[in-house]
Parts: sequence; C-alpha cells; structure tokens
Amino acid sequence: MAEVRQTVIELLGQLGSSREARQYLKQFSRIEEARFAVVKIGGAVLRDDLDELAAALAFLHRLGLTPIVLHGAGPQLDEAMVEAGVPVEKRDGLRVTTEEVMAVARPVIYRANASLVDALEARGVRARGILHGVFNARLADRERLGLVGEVESIELEPVRSAVRSGALPVVACLGESPSGQVMNINADIAARELVWEIKPYKIIFLTGTGGLLDQNGRIISAISISGDYDHLIAQDWVHSGMQLKLAQIKDMLDRLPGETSVSITSAEKLTRELFTHTGAGTLIRKGERIDWLTEVSDQQWQSLGELLEQSFDRRLRPDWRRDRDLQGLLLAESGRAGALIARGVDGLPYLDKFVVTPEARGEGLGAALWQVLRARFPTLYWRSRASNPIAGWYLQQAHASFRRGEWIVHIIGVDGFDQLERLVNDARQRDSGWAEDQQG
Ligand code: ARG
Repeated sequence: MAEVRQTVIELLGQLGSSREARQYLKQFSRIEEARFAVVKIGGAVLRDDLDELAAALAFLHRLGLTPIVLHGAGPQLDEAMVEAGVPVEKRDGLRVTTEEVMAVARPVIYRANASLVDALEARGVRARGILHGVFNARLADRERLGLVGEVESIELEPVRSAVRSGALPVVACLGESPSGQVMNINADIAARELVWEIKPYKIIFLTGTGGLLDQNGRIISAISISGDYDHLIAQDWVHSGMQLKLAQIKDMLDRLPGETSVSITSAEKLTRELFTHTGAGTLIRKGERIDWLTEVSDQQWQSLGELLEQSFDRRLRPDWRRDRDLQGLLLAESGRAGALIARGVDGLPYLDKFVVTPEARGEGLGAALWQVLRARFPTLYWRSRASNPIAGWYLQQAHASFRRGEWIVHIIGVDGFDQLERLVNDARQRDSGWAEDQQG
C-alpha cells in the first residue's frame, strides 16, 4: 500500500492536478478488476514503442489496476513474410492465411507476445502471455482466406485466472477450432469480440498517432457517436481508414452500456488520458440525449442549482430563480450539463447560464450542448466576465462582442445597431443569481 501511495504521488506530480487524478483512480478502482479496461495494442506500437508501453502498463499495475492487453503483430508479420519470400495478400481487409503464411506467422506472433511479457517482467510486473484458449473459432472461408478464423465464442477463464493471480494478461490474436486447428484472427475483430464479452469500463487503442486527426492534422479530443458521427463520416477529409475505424467503434459501443468509453491514445500519453479530465488523445462515447424543457420542476431547478454551484465553485442566493423569465432549459441526460435560456429584450433568447462539469467537458459534452443550443437558437446573446477562462472561446463563437466594464456581451445573429445596443444594455445589468454579486 505504501508503494501504491508513492506511485500515486509520482503520478500526481507528473500530471499537475491531484484532485482529478485521485478521482479517476477511485472511479477506475471501483470497477470489478477484470473489467477496468481492454487495451488493444497495434503491432507497430509493440515494435517501436515497447519501452514506453511497458512503462505505462507497469504504472497502471502498480496503481492496482489490471488492464487486459490484446495485441496484433501485423507489421512484424509483413516483415517476416518479405524475408521468407512469402507474398502478402489481403482480401476484404483480412490477411489471406495459407499454411505457409501460418508457418511464418505463428512464431512471429509468439515473439511479439513474449517481447511485451518480458518487458513487463523486466519492470517487476507479473505478466502472463496468453497465446491460445481464448478465441474459439471456425474457418471463415477456407477457400478464399485460408486459416482465417471467425470467432465463435470466447473463453475468459485464462484471462480471469491471470488477473486473479495478479498478472497482467497479454492476449495474442490466435484462435483454435475444437480439435486444435490454429487460426489467425484479425486484431480489430478479436478486440471487438473480447470487448463484447468482458464489457470493460474503458476500451483503449494505443496507436503511433495517439488519436484521430482532424483536417489540420490535430488530434480530435472527443467524439460523441450520437452527436458527431453522421456529420464526421460525411466529411471529405475523413479518409476510408478513419471511416472504418469509426464505424467499428460505433458498432462496438452500440452493444455496451452508456458509461463505456473508447480512448485512442499513445503509450506515452496513456496516463494523462486516463487521469485527467481533458485527456490526451481521442475519447469516443455513445453520447447522451440533450432535452429541451419548457417546464422545469422544482427537483430540476434544485439539481441545476447544485450543478452550477459545483461547477463554478460559488454559492447561489436562495432566491436566485426569482424573476428569471424562463424560456426553457437544455439539459443533458446525465444532468452534467445544461443551458438556461431566458426571454430577453425584444423576445430574443438570452443565454442566462451555460454549465458543464469539468469531467463532462473532457468528454466533449460542453461542445455537444453548444451545438444543440446553436441549432435551436439562430439568435442568441449572453455575457461573460472578462476574467472567465472561457471568455476567449465565447469571443470565437459570437458574431459580435462588446466590452462593458467587467462584462463582455456576446451576440449571435443580430445586426441592427439599435437592437445590438439594447441587448448589450440589457445583458450587462442582469442579475447573476450568485450570492456574492449585488442584485440589479
Ligand atoms: N480521464 C478520462 C477518461 O479516461 C477522460 C479523458 C478525456 N479524454 C479526451 N481525449 N477528451 O475516461
């Protein structure tokens, strides 16, 4: 336990915010041990990033977390085949696995597996290579694909027994028929099947790039399937590989509980991804419903008040709801984000409160809420304090912004000068509802 605490302290120093790190550690530790995470590691990461990878996994293990590791060996296999003079052939994205190919593949996969187990053990982490006995398979199409296996069922006992004995399971993508015929299983398919069986809290893909990239080559921080998927898939810069990846992840999440999330990150950034709100990589979740409520119950006002107080770390006056001419409330299903709309000047919507818990911000819920808000209100005005950390972001969103003392008033969709003036004057003198602000 002392060692664990030492590790946590090390971690906290590395990441900056101890509160966040502690919160995530608590959250991950609450989950049944074998259901914390499935980590899928591409062959290239195993080959190029072994040290960093072993360090990151060892770190989790020292924190008392046991990720289940699944790895491919594609690039290693390609190299070995070139060396052996065996042509590489793919059909439908699957490696055609003749007997000859299998003869080359098996030792390559064994070696890849052993390289990670050895690297972990060299760091004092018990690890168990699991080469067989997990994927019960049958031949997908002997004629076209050779010894490519289709997963029929999963046997979790080898994995569980490793976890029980305190060892990190390192699973290879090989399957067998009931009589012991070894088959090659595509790593993405193996990951999907394993994940469906284990239903882990987190699914982690470790790649060289460390996330999905946008059109400018920057990592997309968060994607919600319900909010972003259709839009993303339709973008011309989303190439077919990324489309396929997204479709696979959507498919995977469709069959898992809403709390499950996928993180695409690199070995080097894994700790930061897991233990901070903003993460480092791409977080993908199913996403949640955002409802538009025109009637707000006492219970909902109460929860909204708590959400505001917690997120802004300030107190509201007990009568803060009074005199807010409510038009409606956009509220996320989980209650972790909301936007309160009041009837403003000239009947235009005034964005009275916009609130997202820090944790939900990392998931992209703030951006999702903003999208819904913008779609519903072509015209909108609101204000922020100049010192507000997201003032800069508001400036980008607004069509026009006006500084008035401590306030900046932001406006979207209005051009008439007189009307702008009225909105600005209205916004700056509104009651905030916060206890320490003067009313009026
Ligand atoms: N630490 C949290 C998690 O792993 C949030 C990560 C947020 N990551 C991101 N790329 N936005 O679940």
